[in-house]
Amino acid sequence: MKIYAHRGYSGFYPENTMLAFQKAWEAGSDGIELDVQLTKDGELVVIHDETLDRTTDHTGRVCDYTLEELKTCNAAAKSSYANTFMTIPTFEEYCAWAATTNLVTNIEIKSSVIYYPDIEEKTLEMVKRYQLEEKILISSFNHLSLCAVKAIDASILCGALVPETGLVNAGHAAQKFGFECFHPPYCAMSKEAVQECHDHQVQVNVWTVNTMHQLVDCFNWGCDGIFTNYPDVCRAFVDAK
Ligand code: G3P
Ligand code: CA
Repeated sequence: MKIYAHRGYSGFYPENTMLAFQKAWEAGSDGIELDVQLTKDGELVVIHDETLDRTTDHTGRVCDYTLEELKTCNAAAKSSYANTFMTIPTFEEYCAWAATTNLVTNIEIKSSVIYYPDIEEKTLEMVKRYQLEEKILISSFNHLSLCAVKAIDASILCGALVPETGLVNAGHAAQKFGFECFHPPYCAMSKEAVQECHDHQVQVNVWTVNTMHQLVDCFNWGCDGIFTNYPDVCRAFVDAK
């Protein structure tokens, strides 16, 4: 079972920052999950919310700031590292770093609340610039975005994210649309649902697994991967099995 650090090692470090990514790697993660969006001037940046309010010292929408303006935001402002200035990483900064590691990156394309024109093309262009094609998995709640990724390059692995309502017959659906993975929340899963995906050659990566009870269930159900804010705990559990 692969361990993906959700927004980096976000249980202890400010989410989606280079520090959280570095610490996730040091904690023994197999992969890192992050979220990409576009700035006003069309640059890819790594941040979860469509607005800056929850995690930074600025307010308003990410898409209303240029990259130069966004670089003045403190991405650690609302964390226990508030006194340490950390920038919102560009996706290029992340890729340059990831290329020096053996980590797999799950890139979540944020395109459900705001659709960012050409975000799929820009994401794949950056991935290719750093020769990360074999080390990525793209996911999105917007399955049309995944279809756009597949239309650009069918060899890129894709995972269909679904919300808490889950999806009955998810394996059948993912297989039909050519997605290799299904990314449900823990609350929507069961042993039978994992089996249905495997029956359709679809891998299951579950989010966000932050308790031992959830971790044990995912392991026993035969999940292929989990997203967690605590990769060190999950690493120790999996290694002891
Ligand atoms: O990819 C799993 C998880 O990141 C999806 O939910 O809201 O944390 O992006 P969210
Ligand atoms: Ca995400």
